[in-house]
Amino acid sequence: MLTAEEKICAIRACRGVKPISQLTAYDYPTARLLDEAGVDMLLVGDSLGMMVLGFPDTTSVTLQHMLHHTAAVARAQTKALLVADMPIHTYDTPEQALESARALVEVGAEAVKLEGGCAVEPMIRAIVQAGIPVQAHIGLLPQHIKEDGGYRMRGKSESEAHALSDDLQAVTRAGAFSVVIECTRAEVAAQLTAAASVITIGIGAGHGTCDGEVQVFHDLVRYFPWFTPRFAVQHADLADSITSATQKWIAGLLLPGQK
Ligand code: KIV
Repeated sequence: MLTAEEKICAIRACRGVKPISQLTAYDYPTARLLDEAGVDMLLVGDSLGMMVLGFPDTTSVTLQHMLHHTAAVARAQTKALLVADMPIHTYDTPEQALESARALVEVGAEAVKLEGGCAVEPMIRAIVQAGIPVQAHIGLLPQHIKEDGGYRMRGKSESEAHALSDDLQAVTRAGAFSVVIECTRAEVAAQLTAAASVITIGIGAGHGTCDGEVQVFHDLVRYFPWFTPRFAVQHADLADSITSATQKWIAGLLLPGQK
């Protein structure tokens, strides 16, 4: 079993050699299956709020939820690096950020992810200085969707593109090993990647624009058919398989004495 440091080193070595893959996993069997399939990084994303817990967005997710699901994923003892999301209001100050990150590491996270650029530079620095690897997250920030004007593409204007570049520099200065770039124009993601010294992971930011891509597993296999983002790639239809398996099982049930 490699250490988190060794896993990050191996992932860094992939930069520019092969695209780096990251998928969400919120439970033990998914984590094992994705790991056995060869994914580089797993993310216990706070998207579990919608995908598993039935909330309308990620803002109701608590540290307790994240600890419960991170512990389940950690029991799979994956070769893939296990990154756990820090929910909203668990990193409002550097001290709180470190305490929350330590709690996630305690249950098995090998790195933590938090949303924001310049605004969270001191929080990232506090966590990294304590020896915990951080993946940053810039562009569209799902935890701030309400105040940030909804699900729209970021980096469309010159000033927004500049702000993204400032965010990238801030998280790099703070010591993040990687940054998720969500929902930006493809050209902006490509420019950020060209300028980056950290591993860039895109979502909704064009194909082949970043060092790798992350996707919500439920979107990949259509396990949450009620909403799928426009940019999601789908390679299986679990919703269909589950419905038809359930209907076949119901149809095959027998009453006592029936053959
Ligand atoms: O919570 C999550 O799943 C995420 C990804 C969309 C990057 O943050």
